[in-house]
Amino acid sequence: MTYKVPFVNYKDQYKVLKIPIQKAISRVLSEGQLILREDVLEFEKNLAKFVDVKYAIGVASGTDALMLSLRAAGIGPGAEVITVAHTFLASIASIVHTGATPVLVDIGDDYLMDARLIEKAITKRTKAIMPVHLNGRVCEMDAIIKIAKKYRLSIIEDACQALGASFKGKRAGSFGIAGCFSFYPAKILGAYGDAGAVVTNNKRIYERIRLYRDHGRKTKDKFVCYGVTSRLDNIQAAVLNVKFKYINQWILRRKMLARLYAKELGKIKEVTLPPFPDKNRDDVFQNFVIRAKRRDELKAYLTEQRIETIVSNPIPLNKQKELKLSQFSLPKTENFASDVISLPMIPELTDRQIQYVMKQIRTFYHI
Ligand SMILES: Cc1ncc(COP(=O)(O)O)c(C=O)c1O
Repeated sequence: MTYKVPFVNYKDQYKVLKIPIQKAISRVLSEGQLILREDVLEFEKNLAKFVDVKYAIGVASGTDALMLSLRAAGIGPGAEVITVAHTFLASIASIVHTGATPVLVDIGDDYLMDARLIEKAITKRTKAIMPVHLNGRVCEMDAIIKIAKKYRLSIIEDACQALGASFKGKRAGSFGIAGCFSFYPAKILGAYGDAGAVVTNNKRIYERIRLYRDHGRKTKDKFVCYGVTSRLDNIQAAVLNVKFKYINQWILRRKMLARLYAKELGKIKEVTLPPFPDKNRDDVFQNFVIRAKRRDELKAYLTEQRIETIVSNPIPLNKQKELKLSQFSLPKTENFASDVISLPMIPELTDRQIQYVMKQIRTFYHI
């Protein structure tokens, strides 16, 4: 189906960026600079500056960023890492892939890790906390940092959905020992394929991840540990460097769209809006997630009106038998799974399109 309002719109974004993107790709190809070349270094500098940290390391995906960060922080078999189930499975999978055990806590009304539940989940084996800054909003980092300090735990931030968001003036990714980003095409900053990065102020973590992403290669012929192939492609880095110039403008547009949605949808009693930035927060609205009565009917109706929406985790991850997470009882996570729905939220959305979405939601609820 061609949607009147698509959830992502790579084609329209490309129309605007076509010339600089083609120039960048063509330069990389004609110079034959493919793996760990200048564009990757430039991107790492851009990212570190944007997040306000010392180091950034480009890797192949957000999942690898998380996995390699956990490994670099010494997380492995026998360790427990506290995180949430209201996330993309990659957060939990990255823990499992290190051989460690994920321990899940519930979320608060803001869809984010409920810091009040962390202490109860800590055992002798707990080594780290992985807060997930979902939907472009940073978790309650003061409380999380306090607990991490008290129990000497590492914080590895899953900031894959929160590039540019901040809490008390500090950007997502800059709170923990490592912050992890995804540049999957639909992200706020999206590559033309998979890509990711780790940011850190810790030199040891920086050096470990640089080794891990390239099979432990220290110099051309010298290997100092076992690693993987997880380098950010130079061609993707070149694309991301072009797109970086637009990021502030794109984030502003997302915030504007969020305000438009909130103004209209706030009048509908069947709809619960997402939390909005308070004095401590600057949210970037990677997603615009509402809670809606008769969610499945609403989704079907919007599809009929050619509006594309997404329901993330309709089956909560702790209810998926094969993932072996069913020992965790997460009432809020499970409850939210039954009524959350993500509305289109991309900078390319026109005012007319967003008015159309809101009109259709009003019509569905007879308002
Ligand atoms: C919260 C969260 N964590 C981790 C990831 C994994 O990133 P990637 O898809 O680049 O591996 C994503 C990406 O979708 C994400 O949204």
